[in-house]
Amino acid sequence: MTELAARARDTRKGPARSTDFYPSRVLPPSRTPGALEFLRLIIKDPLLSVPAEAYEKDVLYRRWPARLAYACSPEAVRGVLVEQRKQFDRKPDIQRYLLGRLLGNGILLAEGADWKWQRQTTNPLFRQADVLNYVPVMEQAARHTLAQWRNDPDGVVPAAGDMVRTTYEVIARTVLISGSEDVTRTTEESSPAYSRAFPWALAYGLLRIPQYVPRPGRKTMNQRDARLRAIVAKMLERSEASDPTDDLLTRLRQARHPETGRGMSRDQLIDNILTFLLAGHHTTAMALTWTLYVLASLPELQEELYAEVAAVVGPGPITRQDIDRFSLIPKVIKETMRLFPPVPGLSRLALEDAELVGQRIPAGTIVNIPIYSLHRHHGVWDDAHRFDPERFAPERERGFKSCQFLPFGAGPRICSGMAFAMVEATVILATLIRDVRFELASRDFVPTPISRVVLVPKEGLPLRVVFRPGGASRAKGQHKAS
Ligand code: HEM
Repeated sequence: MTELAARARDTRKGPARSTDFYPSRVLPPSRTPGALEFLRLIIKDPLLSVPAEAYEKDVLYRRWPARLAYACSPEAVRGVLVEQRKQFDRKPDIQRYLLGRLLGNGILLAEGADWKWQRQTTNPLFRQADVLNYVPVMEQAARHTLAQWRNDPDGVVPAAGDMVRTTYEVIARTVLISGSEDVTRTTEESSPAYSRAFPWALAYGLLRIPQYVPRPGRKTMNQRDARLRAIVAKMLERSEASDPTDDLLTRLRQARHPETGRGMSRDQLIDNILTFLLAGHHTTAMALTWTLYVLASLPELQEELYAEVAAVVGPGPITRQDIDRFSLIPKVIKETMRLFPPVPGLSRLALEDAELVGQRIPAGTIVNIPIYSLHRHHGVWDDAHRFDPERFAPERERGFKSCQFLPFGAGPRICSGMAFAMVEATVILATLIRDVRFELASRDFVPTPISRVVLVPKEGLPLRVVFRPGGASRAKGQHKAS
């Protein structure tokens, strides 16, 4: 079997039920790859370089071609991100290689005190109660996508791209509101260039090759980054001249450090607008994309979801009160993020000599947290590759070990937008499911998961959408009795 065919294996058997569905997956190399093979795999797809042992062991360590450890089990991950975090309290330069010019010193890349105050300043913007104010924006973005699908003559849609556009509309209308079309276009145009440049940036970062050394894709990326920053700087100027609205940009501008009263500089504002814009849409888009793949494969589950949405929401718009009333939707989204974590891996740097679950980690080691394999770790998950949303029944989820399920990371740098993302994915999925049924465009199609900063289906996700008679978007004006 070729590498690609092997990792895209999909063991759907007969009529699809959630209990016997083993969706497509990455087949890891059976033994730790040698240095050259390791680099080849990183450039092909970083996920392929994580060896099979990572799905079973606590910690792996390799010295060559880079000092690299994998924290594989929940215990090891907890050590890095929570218990011994002072020893691993820095991100290695890998992300900077890829995103440094674009995101500068925004919250994702900043370190130490500089990170801390930005985090404190922006945290209040993402409280669940505030995020719920955006439910109508989220529903409307999904409705726009439905309207576009309605006009599609053959009913087959590029679901991955359409989810990116839908979540982009949400983040653009909440973070930016005023005139984001240029950013939309430039981000969309940049996407293939980033995908090409990402594995090279990763390989150079791991090998600690200085940033000034030319690498494939860097020049194009730099040009796009400069363009995006210039566009956002202009938007900032425009928004300063206009009346304050309730978008995140305005709130970022008004935010003050709780102790010093200091606001953000212009550069910090640009860094953070771009950070929220980028961190806040591709990730959620991929959570939705993989969920649609699962649902298209499991028609019965899809009907159960439809029934739940009909019962909770009724014919009118989705309201903020509905969000907590869904039970199956969050289980399906979480189980999908377990098998297809939108962020498939994190990394940290060992600042001093440390020990992780009995393994010595010398200072200077890059520590990778392979979320993808953690979520399929055989010591943690029963029948790990099987799709089963009931794993996330609240009473079972309460029994999880800490750091067993980490789509949003853990510790002080846990995703700022976690509540935003869960509400957004719920609202968009519920809105789509009310109106359409999803089918795989071809029964033989199996999406190949590949890491391109986020976990994407390599070939995209062509889906047939079949509109339900009398779907909710036709009954837009109606409101349910509360
Ligand atoms: C399903 C969707 C999402 C996933 C899976 C996700 C995942 C993650 C992960 C794993 C991290 C931790 C990175 C690390 O520790 O190195 C992170 C950080 C971050 N995320 Fe998300 N994210 C999602 C959606 C969002 C959204 C919607 C926003 C904003 C609106 C957002 C903003 C951020 C920011 C600002 C950080 C940096 C936090 C810090 O370093 O203090 N994310 N995200």
